[in-house]
Amino acid sequence: MSELSKAIGFQHEPSPVNWTKRDLLLYAVGIGAKKEDFPFVYELHKSFAPFPTYPVVLSLKGDSQDVTDFSKGFAGEPIPGLPKFDPNRVVHGSMSIEVLKPLPVESGPGWSLKKTIAGVHENKSGIICDVELLLVDPSGVPYTRMISSSFNLGAKSNPPQKFSKSTSSSPAAKPPPKGVNPNYIVTETTSEEQAILYRLSGDYNPTHIDPSIGKKMGFGGVILHGLATYGFAARAVLERLAGNDPNALKYFACRFTSPVKPGDTIETSIWEMGPGPDGTTEVSFVTKDLTSGKIVLGGGIAYVRTVAKSRL
Ligand SMILES: *[C@@H]1O[C@H](CO)[C@@H](O)[C@H](O)[C@H]1NC(C)=O
Ligand SMILES: *[C@@H]1O[C@H](CO)[C@@H](O)[C@H](O)[C@H]1NC(C)=O
Repeated sequence: MSELSKAIGFQHEPSPVNWTKRDLLLYAVGIGAKKEDFPFVYELHKSFAPFPTYPVVLSLKGDSQDVTDFSKGFAGEPIPGLPKFDPNRVVHGSMSIEVLKPLPVESGPGWSLKKTIAGVHENKSGIICDVELLLVDPSGVPYTRMISSSFNLGAKSNPPQKFSKSTSSSPAAKPPPKGVNPNYIVTETTSEEQAILYRLSGDYNPTHIDPSIGKKMGFGGVILHGLATYGFAARAVLERLAGNDPNALKYFACRFTSPVKPGDTIETSIWEMGPGPDGTTEVSFVTKDLTSGKIVLGGGIAYVRTVAKSRL
């Protein structure tokens, strides 16, 4: 039996999180919300609500109101069965978010994120860790379940072996039908300042502001947060399928396949695939960076409660 299997089910101490209306407004502009994107940009709008993917920022924001110091890297606590990972060789592989209950516009005290190792996979190039993040209110009621997968390049177990085990199964995207045009194509140009805005939601990793780091890593400069691109794609899906109804997005997931640079133009192609669970529509999507020509978000899937077109 692999040492790695010991890690599965490991639970971190729950970490406190909190947010205010200002945090929600800041996140909305970080993911490119436009001035007419009510109800996400104006706290007095009658339907003001968190943009549904907001909780993806909370594992890095935590409960801090100020910037957090990234210069020390994320050491993290040791996890039984896992080798020590090099914080400089971690890439975000994929992210899913499942909305269980609508989020309040401010948390107040007592909320936390419960982190559990849900899966570990080893291949020749490294070790992938799937972490389940459950956002719970002060009485332990879950609001959001997220699975974040990180690829630890160069990491090896002892002895290295092919290994793959996961306790949670997130719905996987169906490949878009071959030769069928997407139902929607949304093209947007990110701002040159997109990363300096998005970081204010809690990811102060210097890769997103100091060009020398990205140059050393072979990206030729600053790269945009993968989760910012994720938010652009989620906006595209929510706006086109549900007229920006904050409660319409039930599930949203994709893989991060290539970086975007601030200022690049990105295009999200969305296919309606048929009925999803609980009266939703299942969509598949893919986001391409038209500046680099690369697919940046792959294997996209979402469950959305669609709004009848006549009501828009
Ligand atoms: C969030 O929690 C921190 C730590 O307890 C506290 O200092 C801060 O005031 C809280 N912020 C809000 C808006 O509740
Ligand atoms: C290992 O898994 C990662 C993440 O899924 C993938 O990008 C990489 O190509 C895989 N490497 C090999 C050698 O299979």
